[in-house]
Amino acid sequence: MKRTVDEHAARFDEVAGEYDDSKTPEYRACADLVVEHAAPSSDDVVLDLGTGTGAIALALAGEAKRVVGRDVSEGMMDEARSKAADAGIENTSFGHGTFRDPAYEGPASIVVSNFAMHHLNDAEKREAIERIAASDPDRFVLGDVMFFGEPDPEEPFYAPEVDDPATVGHLVDVLTDVGFVVTAAERVHDQVGVLVAERPWSDETVA
Ligand SMILES: C[S@@+](CC[C@H](N)C(=O)[O-])C[C@H]1O[C@@H](n2cnc3c(N)ncnc32)[C@H](O)[C@@H]1O
Repeated sequence: MKRTVDEHAARFDEVAGEYDDSKTPEYRACADLVVEHAAPSSDDVVLDLGTGTGAIALALAGEAKRVVGRDVSEGMMDEARSKAADAGIENTSFGHGTFRDPAYEGPASIVVSNFAMHHLNDAEKREAIERIAASDPDRFVLGDVMFFGEPDPEEPFYAPEVDDPATVGHLVDVLTDVGFVVTAAERVHDQVGVLVAERPWSDETVA
């Protein structure tokens, strides 16, 4: 990480109130794809890592049994909690946890993350994905800044001084190393995409 967890938390605490007003079309397309591919049923518990103001968690709450959001920024999660309360959503909870230590030991059949894992460096992403695989979800849906071609720091979506996006190749290597099958790779932009990783023995993959 180019910033410590506490530094990232402080950065997001500062912008939490305005965060939802600053979304690009590519971010929205990416978030929509994450929601579409997560596709929980009423039996699924979803874990949303780097949940922020709950964009993904709250969008999935209507279909899922329960959604657990984890983040390092209390300011961002306060926004998520307040949106959940305003919408009368009662099956979501938000608490402190990192990618590598989500502080959640319960079941999660689906893990999602959107526009957050790029804060970790490649070695840390591997550790985080190993941790996700060890929790044994049926499906992991990762939307993020990721390089389909050559990195271009002049393009939007990431700031080289604080962010550390991976190549799609690195992410696919790690996901397959830990036992997932990558069943979809959606390119939203040359630097934004969604990967869907599933267990080879899950019903949908085998059918
Ligand atoms: C750009 S926001 C994305 C939020 C949300 N997923 C969305 O789609 O709008 C990135 C979030 O990642 C969180 N974050 C940064 N580093 C983290 C870490 N190591 N573990 C968990 N969350 C982290 C930040 O606090 C921030 O809320």
